[in-house]
Amino acid sequence: MRKKIVAGNWKMNMDYNEGLALFSEIANMVKDEITGQQQAVVCCPFIHLYSLSQLAKGVDKVAIGAQNCHQKESGAYTGEISAKMVKSTGAAYVIIGHSERRQYFGEDNQLLAEKAEAALNSSLKPIFCIGETLEERENDSYFDVIRTQLKEGVFGLTESQFAQVILAYEPVWAIGTGKTASAEQAQEIHAFIRNEIAENYNQQVADDTTILYGGSCNPKNAPELFAQPDIDGGLIGGASLKSRDFLDIVKVFN
Ligand code: 13P
Repeated sequence: MRKKIVAGNWKMNMDYNEGLALFSEIANMVKDEITGQQQAVVCCPFIHLYSLSQLAKGVDKVAIGAQNCHQKESGAYTGEISAKMVKSTGAAYVIIGHSERRQYFGEDNQLLAEKAEAALNSSLKPIFCIGETLEERENDSYFDVIRTQLKEGVFGLTESQFAQVILAYEPVWAIGTGKTASAEQAQEIHAFIRNEIAENYNQQVADDTTILYGGSCNPKNAPELFAQPDIDGGLIGGASLKSRDFLDIVKVFN
């Protein structure tokens, strides 16, 4: 059975103390309220990684992740953070290829393939993001776009490497817009992604891959989205900054 995961992506929010306070609330709620086998993940800014990892140590069912890492292990790359550094904080996950990284920082599939490999080499689990823009949705090229993102981004990995990858389908037009994909639209893409995995690897690998939905996910729409057969959880932006909302989304899997 594949793992159910609800990951929060704090993006560039929360100063150090705010982040500590928010995570303390989340960790307490996870302790008290999570009764299922699901995993909660908090993907925070780099400055919080070590402290939150310390706080997460006593709490089963919550893990910490970064939102990016550099593709090289070390070197003269001023201002950058490697996967090895992220791992050394106690974090277990890293988001790779978020659409904001693709859009604002020019990260393309080739670079993201290197980052995914770097994360895996440091024993971090990549949460690898894919998804089409509004234009690509409207001109009906979205299946091709997603196929290419998968092929160039992660399908170069070996089967055992890919087994560590979590995929996140985030339609760019649904991110931060309040306009979520309908459960049917999301399920259609998730089934397509799973089928692509089966074709590239095999059915077993496809059945075991956790595929998250992201984009204006909230406590109201999460139950219907997560009830879809190929949606295994969510990658949550805005709603992950409110402990009550985030926990209510995680609790859909109780
Ligand atoms: P929102 O939930 O704010 O739409 O953001 C989604 C997202 O980008 C998560 O990575």
